[in-house]
Amino acid sequence: MQVLMVASECAPFAKTGGLADVVGALPAALASLGVEAQVLMPAYPSLFPLLPQGEEVARFDDLPGGTGRLMRVTSDGVPLLLLDAPQLFDRPGGLYVDENGRDWPDNDLRFGALSQAAARVCTGVIDGYQPDILHAHDWQAALAPVYLKMDGRSEPRSVFTIHNIAFQGRFGPQALGPLGLKRDWFHPEALEYHGDLSFLKGGLMFADRITTVSPTYAREILTPEFGMGLDGVLRARNAVLSGLLNGIDLNSWNPATDDKIARPYDARNLKRKAENRAAICDRMALEPNARGPLFCVISRLTQQKGLDALLSAVPHLVARGAQLAVLGAGEPDLEAGFRQAAQDHTGSVGAFIGYDEPLSHLLQAGSDAILIPSRFEPCGLTQLYGLRYGTLPVVARTGGLADTVIDANVAALAVKAATGFVFDNVSAEGLAQVINRVVDAHADPRLWQNMQRAAMRHPVGWDDSAKGYADLYAALVA
Ligand code: ADP
Ligand code: GLC
Repeated sequence: MQVLMVASECAPFAKTGGLADVVGALPAALASLGVEAQVLMPAYPSLFPLLPQGEEVARFDDLPGGTGRLMRVTSDGVPLLLLDAPQLFDRPGGLYVDENGRDWPDNDLRFGALSQAAARVCTGVIDGYQPDILHAHDWQAALAPVYLKMDGRSEPRSVFTIHNIAFQGRFGPQALGPLGLKRDWFHPEALEYHGDLSFLKGGLMFADRITTVSPTYAREILTPEFGMGLDGVLRARNAVLSGLLNGIDLNSWNPATDDKIARPYDARNLKRKAENRAAICDRMALEPNARGPLFCVISRLTQQKGLDALLSAVPHLVARGAQLAVLGAGEPDLEAGFRQAAQDHTGSVGAFIGYDEPLSHLLQAGSDAILIPSRFEPCGLTQLYGLRYGTLPVVARTGGLADTVIDANVAALAVKAATGFVFDNVSAEGLAQVINRVVDAHADPRLWQNMQRAAMRHPVGWDDSAKGYADLYAALVA
């Protein structure tokens, strides 16, 4: 079985969030099930070093936004297809935004080109390579199933995965022409969304199967509260929608072998976490002898993540004798807020504003708990890393967070099943209450250690879900 995955991110090559981790890890997990998955992504500048050793496998004269060539490259044994179109992707700044954080004005062309290249690969433009399945991820790849169907083709079959329905790729109707999309598909039963072209809606309407990244989110997006305007479309396509929980790469995220942390450990020698905590205190100017729990946050700083509510609860957290280490970047208000909190609570609160992969590992290793007060969360990966590192997740009851963390309620504690803390009310009060529960539990070392061990036993790998994707592909091909 050959699967072409198309996405705008893939770890470790280009990443802004969990999408990259998933696209980076899923192909390896599928390989052991006899599914050969290849990732097609843009050749961003971070990938340029791979191009000279690559092989050109196709050339396109008329992609949206100009010409492009497909390069087959290998990095550490991982094969990749790169869309090399410098006029679209050779730019400073982020993957989607310029150096000032503004969306590139031609994102429609950039990701339309990516989607169209994927559709063409499915029609056999690469010698000796014919995918059985096209698997597109998020809005940036969502036109791939559309282009495929535009040729009147029913094969290969396509899967579209929603990682976050908040990002929809919405552009004015003038985008249709340059994208080479059929005018007569510009109506509400196809590509039109309230007078605009919606990439995401296109994927939802034209893919043969739709998945999202947790069972709870699959139900939530059918409702107006979480559907972000597309709940009606999803209800109409509910028969082909399913939720498959993300896993994590157990090799890159393994506290026993992690070379990004100060002292490796496993469930039998949890005391070694203390050396990692000391390293964090050093790095983030935190008081090294505090007795209360150290909470961490590793996150995009956005409205989705509920961190404005956490900011309001910081004084309470500090008053309870706990500490907080924040690693994140995003909305200027939140960045400024956490910087200020670190100044106001010297020694108790540390903030590193920016993106730092090694530091994210150290924070997982040395913290006692990881706070994830999201307002919605399709899956979430940092709670899974937390479980694996015995760093208890403190999560809002939503999406994949609700599916992966077992709350420390009386019943779960009695059978030693509890792996974290789940709360309902994303507000300063809700956070204060759950912080109280964490601080109290942390004061009972036996209880805390039982929870850490239960967390570290919790399966967080790809086994089950990779099987789920493999079964889905097989059903589509049959
Ligand atoms: P989302 O995709 O919504 O951002 P996830 O929890 O699925 O949320 O994935 C976030 C990923 O990005 C995780 O791998 C997390 O460790 C990483 N991450 C987020 N912010 C930072 C940061 N500032 N520095 C390093 N890694 C980060
Ligand atoms: C999105 C979601 C996050 C999910 C990730 C990977 O960015 O916000 O919850 O874990 O995609 O699927």
